Amino acid sequence: MAENINVGGCLPVPIFQQQLAPTAGEVGGYLPVPNVQELAAVSKDVSARYIRPERELEQVAAGEFGQIPVIDMSKLQVGDDELAKLHSACKEWGFFQVINHGVAEQVITKMAEDVQHFFSLSLEEKMEYAQLSTGIEGYGQAFVFSEKQTLDWGDMLYINATPVHERKMRFWPRNPSSFRATLDQYAAELEKAARSLLISMSRNLEVEPEKLLNLFNDGEQSLRMNYYPPCEQASKVTGVAPHADGTGLTLLTRLNQAQGLQVRKEGKWVPIDPLPGAFIVNIGDILEIITNGEYKSIEHRALVNDRNERLSIASFHDPNMDVMIEPMSDLLVKDQKKQAPNYKSISHRDYKKISRNMKLDGKDGGFITHMKI
Ligand code: OGA
Ligand code: NI
Repeated sequence: MAENINVGGCLPVPIFQQQLAPTAGEVGGYLPVPNVQELAAVSKDVSARYIRPERELEQVAAGEFGQIPVIDMSKLQVGDDELAKLHSACKEWGFFQVINHGVAEQVITKMAEDVQHFFSLSLEEKMEYAQLSTGIEGYGQAFVFSEKQTLDWGDMLYINATPVHERKMRFWPRNPSSFRATLDQYAAELEKAARSLLISMSRNLEVEPEKLLNLFNDGEQSLRMNYYPPCEQASKVTGVAPHADGTGLTLLTRLNQAQGLQVRKEGKWVPIDPLPGAFIVNIGDILEIITNGEYKSIEHRALVNDRNERLSIASFHDPNMDVMIEPMSDLLVKDQKKQAPNYKSISHRDYKKISRNMKLDGKDGGFITHMKI
């Protein structure tokens, strides 16, 4: 059940019921925030807590950078051209789209249907899967640590899909009835696509594929399903504040036509125009560290629409919890000379604890800044 809170003089709206801020050592755990879907439904006034005055000062690129590269995954096995394109996409953009990725269209369509169905349920039903005070999983919002923090115009459902034996099924909705099976299948298919990309990346990086893949064996995969209601003041809020993903690799799908993802390039925001059926892939901070900075994790944000709701799913692919997050030793030898590491080493467990307990604050505000040597 949700309790009510008065936001900015508007009608009372329910808040996600959480009790406490995280204590040191916990992985995630955030302050309670209003449910944005309800907020959007009861009042057209947008509380000051969502307004980002800095948005007015920021520049959106007028097409000078073009679009992020499009990689045809079916060509990665057969020739060097597509591999070279992938390598430069990872180095120059940190973001690209993949087509012919091998994930069947019906897997994505079914996921889209079930996610949409879930967010259309009553608040009471969705709150059965609400986040707890101790973690990121469940229905709610992440990365809120202070009452003064500007909030994002969006709700999410977050689940950890792997390791399978650690799944917390209490956060896996039973409604729609097919949802659990759909999530399971979607996660497995995306993991396959992610591993296939990692193999191609290791060829480009000239490291043995097994060495990179082994880091990700029995790794962590999470799905973050985002629901951004329409907002009367869409140009002044964000759906997800500027951040770089603290993950290995992210594969993003948008579920409906509303646009919103923007990538930071040379100080400007480049709007991404997703191709139908494509995944938008980005290098996360962990992969930047593993590649000793050869591949870049790039700042991005999600905007919302003034008329239409927007839905997206991010699939985060992380290494095994027991590995060290550090530049791969093979990459520290180039042309038979030893290269200096550009990042420190940290256990994945500690990395997670720290990065999940920091608010989203661009790339420079992220934990990776503290990892740089
Ligand atoms: C994210 C993210 C962008 C979007 O969930 O990490 O960047 O378009 N989402 O929803
Ligand atoms: Ni992101």
